[in-house]
Amino acid sequence: MSNSESMKKQAALCALELVKDGMKLGLGTGSTARYFVDGLGAKVAQGLNVVCVPTSEATRAQAEGLGIKLASLDALGTLDLTIDGADELDDRLDLIKGAGGALLREKIVASASKRMVVIADASKHVACLGAFPLSIEVVNFSHGVTAQAIVRILAQHGAGDAPLLRANDATAPTPFITDNGNYIYDCPPMQIKDAPKLAQDLSAIAGVVEHGLFIGLADTAFVATADGVKMVKAK
Ligand code: 5RP
Repeated sequence: MSNSESMKKQAALCALELVKDGMKLGLGTGSTARYFVDGLGAKVAQGLNVVCVPTSEATRAQAEGLGIKLASLDALGTLDLTIDGADELDDRLDLIKGAGGALLREKIVASASKRMVVIADASKHVACLGAFPLSIEVVNFSHGVTAQAIVRILAQHGAGDAPLLRANDATAPTPFITDNGNYIYDCPPMQIKDAPKLAQDLSAIAGVVEHGLFIGLADTAFVATADGVKMVKAK
């Protein structure tokens, strides 16, 4: 296992310590969250009783394969804890998420949870969000017009370039379709100086379903470094 994969796994195993019998959990998406779900599956096999809401079809398939009990968010209402990865996190624990394309369900599930805890390797912990492309999920209808509105908002926040429609594959560039049947635009790298304001401005665009800025949702992060896993609390 590479160093980076080993760090992701260490962060995931720390978060596993927070899980208690009887909890209702949100399961994140991505390569780091995958380690958490694997660990949870092992605990379930030993008798842990939890019920979980997956944030993507990929996580659903993984959890089902491990025998983890699943339910819909509608059935459970409020969750005790959601554990998820991130593309970037800052000291306030504001996040960029969405590289895996699951940002909409991830945000719905995190918002319905008493706690969201992030698991990440140290490369994700940044002073200023935005070097990683921010993902924006949009409805397919007139998505080009929605993209133009996004360009205008990004320009007000200092970005120079237009967002790019995410493709499945560079060699066969068909649009990537989310689990919800929508498209994703990825923003150019930028320095996001006011993440709450950008989040608010993007949410106000007709045609934007959700964006990957998670503001004020996470309270704790387990960040794996070469010297061990550090617990970061939201400032
Ligand atoms: C998916 C996400 C992921 O949590 C994020 O992309 C981090 O993924 P990874 O752990 O593979 O780096 O937001 O939509």
